[in-house]
Amino acid sequence: MYVLGIESSCDETAAAVVKDGRELLYSSVATQIDTHKLYGGVVPEIASRKHAEDIAIVVKDALEGAGITKEQIDAVGVTFAPGLIGALLVGVNFAKGFCYSLDKPLVPVHHIRSHIAANYLVSPNLEPPFLALVASGGHSLLIDVKDYTDYEILGKTLDDAAGEAFDKTARALGFPYPGGIYIDAAAKRGDPFKYRLPDPHTENPLDFSFSGLKTAVLNLINQHKMRDEEIDSDSLAASFQKTVCDILERKLSLAIDKTERKKVVLAGGVAANSEIRERIEKLCRRLGCSFYMPTRELCTDNAAMVASQAYFEFKSGKVAGMDLNAYATMPADDVRF
Ligand code: KG4
Ligand code: ZN
Repeated sequence: MYVLGIESSCDETAAAVVKDGRELLYSSVATQIDTHKLYGGVVPEIASRKHAEDIAIVVKDALEGAGITKEQIDAVGVTFAPGLIGALLVGVNFAKGFCYSLDKPLVPVHHIRSHIAANYLVSPNLEPPFLALVASGGHSLLIDVKDYTDYEILGKTLDDAAGEAFDKTARALGFPYPGGIYIDAAAKRGDPFKYRLPDPHTENPLDFSFSGLKTAVLNLINQHKMRDEEIDSDSLAASFQKTVCDILERKLSLAIDKTERKKVVLAGGVAANSEIRERIEKLCRRLGCSFYMPTRELCTDNAAMVASQAYFEFKSGKVAGMDLNAYATMPADDVRF
């Protein structure tokens, strides 16, 4: 079964063709990073307009790259929630037009579910149940994935998501948007023990709160500025990244204890971080769990993961009508359309 995936939830316009949920034929991604960099973050209206410009081009590119005609596509999977509403609507409406004109099933895909599904593309033998740690620009989540379309959220973002904390810290250190990748590089040159940063408390130990950590970084930078002292950016990046790793590691161990799952999956844009990848892999080895993570390319937003998840949603009967809408927020374990 050939599925065309479409993604436009934030600042990447993407399309991909995946066979039977596991085999990636071609993935096309048009990133808007250079445009939003000028403003230090994503400007929603500009994002929607760029999606409108690029969507047909990436779909054509994906079909050509896969060597598949429009008629050969068996279903279209599209990200419909959560994300920037104007951005999501571009993908949803394009998918509707495609399905309407060619009489194909339209499959709504939840963005976080698709991030997890990126793992099915790189690990063909991976099957639920497993525990997923998802860290992206907008979300930090611990999810018990009981089946391909059956999830239980164990812990979630209370304020800033992990990626948001990376980006805001990077911005304060003078790095371009999105800053996660620059922190990753700077941290390699710094001393992770130079600055002590807080590990914020959460009532549910599996929830995530990164805003206190971000504020501590900003305060530290301001204090140095006021005293006219130079901050060691590389060591602050290293200390910040180490603290995020400590937090993720501790919460993941708790979740492993609680669920007794022996399979762990990492997902989301922040899962591209080299120290997080290394630390979580080591932790899993130590705890006797098997560990899976997508390639770096498939960690950040793309449509291959959307097409993969759409295959499993379709198999469980999740097909939408032509009245499908987009939603800015929606929990991954309670998907409605
Ligand atoms: O999943 P994603 O592409 O978009 C959302 O769904 O939000 O995640 C984007 C986030 C950004 O915050 C970006 O800075 C972060 O992923 N990111 C990284 C790295 N690469 C991307 N964070 C830390 N280290 C990286 N290497
Ligand atoms: Zn994402």
